[in-house]
Amino acid sequence: MKRYLLSLLAVGALFSCSPGGKSIAQLETKAFDTTLNGKAVSLYTLKNQAGMTAQITNYGARVVSLWVPDKDGKMQDVVWGYPSIAAYLEASDTYAGPVVGRYGNRIAASKFTLDTVEYTVTPNEGPNQLHGGPKGFSNQVWEALQSDSTSVTMSYLSPDGEEGYPGNLTLTVTYTMTGKGLEIDYSATTDAPTVVNPTSHVYFNLHGAANHSINSHVMQLFADRFTPTDAALIPTGEIAPVEGTPMDFRTPTAIGDRVDQTDYEPLKFGGGYDHNYVLNKAAGDPFQLAATVYEPATGIVMNVYTDQPGVQFYGGNAMDGKDDGKYDAKHLYRTGFALETQNYPDAPNHPHFPSSVLRPGETYTQKTLYEFQVKSN
Ligand code: BGC
Repeated sequence: MKRYLLSLLAVGALFSCSPGGKSIAQLETKAFDTTLNGKAVSLYTLKNQAGMTAQITNYGARVVSLWVPDKDGKMQDVVWGYPSIAAYLEASDTYAGPVVGRYGNRIAASKFTLDTVEYTVTPNEGPNQLHGGPKGFSNQVWEALQSDSTSVTMSYLSPDGEEGYPGNLTLTVTYTMTGKGLEIDYSATTDAPTVVNPTSHVYFNLHGAANHSINSHVMQLFADRFTPTDAALIPTGEIAPVEGTPMDFRTPTAIGDRVDQTDYEPLKFGGGYDHNYVLNKAAGDPFQLAATVYEPATGIVMNVYTDQPGVQFYGGNAMDGKDDGKYDAKHLYRTGFALETQNYPDAPNHPHFPSSVLRPGETYTQKTLYEFQVKSN
């Protein structure tokens, strides 16, 4: 593994100053330097000219930290995560920050049929598979190549048959700290027909240190419809309007306003928000604004742009306070949310959902941007 060592990382990177002179308590590289499954793991730091800073480990191609300015110009780490590789390996929630796959979200009964062949993938949530199985991409060590201070490329070769999926799949994910925020570009090829649906599983908290509920965040989702599920969160196949339901975020609404309306079945099944929204496609522009999230206390605004057909909004309903996060923050109930840009869950079993099939000679691509701004009320 080659990498470009930033001079500040070479000295352990404790505190650094952004161009505005704002202090950031970067995680130390040495807390992530280790060997797992015979492969080197480390931490990579990306910074833009405004001082926005991301730290990413190649264990699961995982975003560990992301500092952005708040309305007072103070840098806030808006990513829910852990302080060291040891803490990630011990954590009860293994989905803090990684790229998940080969198929993000659920595959019903851990089975799908492709070109008349039925494949069985490894179940890890009752009979179903979640996020590519127990040895999915989030639990693998990726190759990392950092050639400049704003971007890092992570790649993973998922062998034929891994977790039951056909075809050797090569996936590269490039994280770039652009002037606007963190851009994630995915590219994948295969040597046999397969299904693919990677997504970033970062938990955000726009308060900064993740010890406040995300229920105060005001969110707008540019989606008129969503995909209802059964009690195991497997899509029924229906594509339902959000209108008139607590799923409707077409106008900015605090997440906590309706999250506990569990007399509404989808919120009962999800234990809160845990649903795929069908994004409204802007004609001629596949890269579109999918969501905006705003925290009044910090003034931080996150805009999510993507070329994907869906976004899974997960509101941290399974967070239970068992794990200690960065800055000694407890990872309590609903202290993180994910906006996972992707194809719809279980699409391989629903022919009317967008296709997730990738064939030899084709290239899967995805582009998603988490853009940050501030507003003062
Ligand atoms: C799923 C949730 C799951 C979470 C794990 C989300 O993508 O939809 O049901 O609990 O990932 O962190």
